[in-house]
Amino acid sequence: MEALDIIRAEHRGMWRLTTALDTIGQDMELSGSSAEAQVVGLMLAYLNSYTDRMHHPKEDECLFRLLRARSPQAAADIEQLQAEHREGPAQLAALQALAERVAQGDVEPRSAFFEKLHQYTGDLRSHIRLEEATVMPLARRTLTGADWQEIDTAFLDNDDPLFGVNARAEFAALRARIVALAPDPIGLGGAAARTNPAAVATPTQSTAPPAVLEIKALTSHYGRIQALHGVDIEVADGQLVALVGANGAGKTTLLRTISGVQPASGGSIRLQSKEITHMSPDKRVRAGICQVPEGRQVFGPLSIDDNLHLGAFTRPKGDISADIERMYQLFPILREKRQLPAGTLSGGQQQMLAMARALMGRPRLLLLDEPSMGLAPLLVDEVFRIVKDLKADGIAILLVEQNAHAALSIADVGYVMETGSITLSGPGNELLHNERVKQAYLGI
Ligand SMILES: Nc1ncnc2c1ncn2[C@@H]1O[C@H](COP(=O)(O)OP(=O)(O)OP(=O)(O)O)[C@@H](O)[C@H]1O
Ligand SMILES: [Mg+2]
Repeated sequence: MEALDIIRAEHRGMWRLTTALDTIGQDMELSGSSAEAQVVGLMLAYLNSYTDRMHHPKEDECLFRLLRARSPQAAADIEQLQAEHREGPAQLAALQALAERVAQGDVEPRSAFFEKLHQYTGDLRSHIRLEEATVMPLARRTLTGADWQEIDTAFLDNDDPLFGVNARAEFAALRARIVALAPDPIGLGGAAARTNPAAVATPTQSTAPPAVLEIKALTSHYGRIQALHGVDIEVADGQLVALVGANGAGKTTLLRTISGVQPASGGSIRLQSKEITHMSPDKRVRAGICQVPEGRQVFGPLSIDDNLHLGAFTRPKGDISADIERMYQLFPILREKRQLPAGTLSGGQQQMLAMARALMGRPRLLLLDEPSMGLAPLLVDEVFRIVKDLKADGIAILLVEQNAHAALSIADVGYVMETGSITLSGPGNELLHNERVKQAYLGI
């Protein structure tokens, strides 16, 4: 019955999206602003393609079909759910069209937009309730083992190029971004005011470059297994710091602990002197930490342009187009394809888009986890060129890389990690010539 867990997880994501949509809608209504309508439109576009291509077909073609055959009493409910599935795309398209007009500053459709948005989120919640409270329990009681095998296989099959393997991760990432926007009262974490990370993070006027990131005696555990054993690391303003180490050393764990998706069990993390060790991940995003995760996560069905807009949506609207222009200068290949769905990009291009999207949030501190992994050599050079450019732009970067030579060559400072501890550190070019590093990581 893995399928039921998958459906429930997808429902949880959709439910939170409806809450976020409601909140953004209410905010817009109260403040009279229109700027957020664009992002609402993008969220709806994503929700539409996701549910219509990914979530609904599997329910309709498999779970509902089998349940209908086994249980005549389910017919009426299933009929209603399927009718809603059929009507969903047109309903969402109409709402998107309204959102677009509102975003362009048109005042006339505003009240219709708010009303339809409210109706849509309410309908979606009723739909989810009906599935979870009535239809899924019935399925659990009446379907056979063979039925479940068929259903689970269908739900675990993810080979659609646009909506396949990454679709769930994408959806979770989109939700995380949206939750990061949501104000406190709806209980999803985060502050009531939408702050601009760049504004929060104005560098202080002291003589020594202030540490953007200061990590002291940091520990982290997976259950009883300790993955980080008292890590000390510092990244100064504008600095590029490379972290190298063998597979399983704990590099990803460290980045995840900094971005807050993995809890720290001891020690401290400070961002611009502010203690953030136990702050929620979305607050850290707002404070200016941005992680580009290992394995690229772009929103496949949305265009490249839209992905970049999404990356910027914690920010005030005015200066976004200049930043998008800057991204297209940094990543020319993205400009060529700006209107295409991100899912049609190659792996390397998706990696670039993931980086560009992270940068649209104007991070204070960028955490990069193996950006060159799996890329063709030419693209690897391109990624390192970009990392250098970003450093020149003054962004503090913590770069985790298997490609130790390339990383240390461009880094101000390097750290070597072994089984959860930092065993060596120093200026990048010094480490490049260190005998131990050469033997262990540079293959010399
Ligand atoms: N979700 C998890 N549950 C349990 N143990 C984990 C989990 N993730 C990582 N580990 C363990 O923690 C240690 C550090 O893993 P981590 O992924 O941080 O290493 P890494 O340096 O990023 O490796 P790689 O170079 O392969 O990406 C490893 O021993 C790993 O097996
Ligand atoms: Mg890793």
